[in-house]
Amino acid sequence: MEIFREPYDFQTYCAALDGGASLGFVPTMGALHAGHLSLVRASRRQDHITVASIFVNPTQFGPSEDFDRYPRALAADCALLEQEGVEAVFAPAAAAMYAPGGASWIEVEGLSQRLDGASRPGHFRGVATVVFKLFQLAAPTRAYFGQKDAAQVAVIRRMIQDFFLPMELVVCPIVREPDGLAMSSRNALLNPEQRRAARALARALRKLGEAYDRGERAAAPLLEAGQAVIAAEPGLHLDYLAAVDANTLLPVTQAAAGTLFAVAAFADRTRLIDNARIAPDGTFAL
Ligand code: PAJ
Repeated sequence: MEIFREPYDFQTYCAALDGGASLGFVPTMGALHAGHLSLVRASRRQDHITVASIFVNPTQFGPSEDFDRYPRALAADCALLEQEGVEAVFAPAAAAMYAPGGASWIEVEGLSQRLDGASRPGHFRGVATVVFKLFQLAAPTRAYFGQKDAAQVAVIRRMIQDFFLPMELVVCPIVREPDGLAMSSRNALLNPEQRRAARALARALRKLGEAYDRGERAAAPLLEAGQAVIAAEPGLHLDYLAAVDANTLLPVTQAAAGTLFAVAAFADRTRLIDNARIAPDGTFAL
C-alpha cells in the first residue's frame, strides 16, 4: 500500500491509474473503526481500486471544539487499510492542504447552516472545502460516505450537483455497536459513564420509531417521544432532535418517506450524533 503526504503526488498516482479501472475513494479523519471499514469494503466490492484519505481537517472544527483532543492513530489506521486491500492512502499535513495565502472556500449555502451547521458555525464550509480539494486530487469514480453524518451527505450531494462533479456519491448504512450506539471516532473520548449515557441517542430514535410504527405521523409528538428519552439521561445534554427533509434539511411537520430524524447531544464536552430515516417504502429505518 502506498502512503502519500503531498497533494500533487497523490493526484499524479490517481490520474495514472488504468483508464478502464474505476476508482473508489473513502475520505476519513482517521481513528478508524468498523463504520469506516464498511465504506472501504463497499468500495472494494464496487470499484477496481480503492484509495482512502486520513486528515483531521482543522477548518471544520470551531475554536472551542475538540480538534486537539480528536483521536489520531495513523500507524494503526494504515495497517487496517492495508489489511482491507486499500491501494493507497493520502495523509497530508495541514500545511499541505492549506498552503499559506490560501483563499478559496466552498460555501454550500442554506444547507450548511442547518442541523450541525446551526450548532457548529463554519463546520460545513470546512467540510465542503476539504472534500472538494480531496475530490480534485483523487478524481474518483465513486466517493463513499456514511449515513451516520446525514447532514454532511446532504451538503456533499448538493456540492456534487452544483459543480457537475463527475462522480457517484455512495451512502453506506450506519454501523452500530451491539448496544445500538453509532460507531464514531469520538466514542474513544468517552469515559465508561459517558459511554453508558451515550446509548440514549439510539434509544431516543428507537422510541420515536415505535411511536411512528404505532401510526403517529405528526413530527411534534414523535420528537417529544425522543426528547423525553434524552431528558431522562442526566449524562447527556441535548443539542438538537429534529425532523427534516433528508435533502434540504428543512423541518417537516409530518413524517413521510424521505424524512430524516437527526439527533445531536453532548456527553460533557464530547458531541455525538445519530439519525434514523423513513425509507422510500415508508418504514422507519434506524
Ligand atoms: P470521519 O468522521 O472520519 O468519517 C469518515 C466517513 O465515515 C464519513 O463518511 C462518515 O459518515 C463515515 N462513518 C463514520 N462513522 C460511521 C458509522 N458508524 N457507520 C457508517 N459510516 C460511518 O466525516 C468525516 O470524517 C469528515 O467530515 C470528512 C468527510 C473526512 C471531511 O473531513
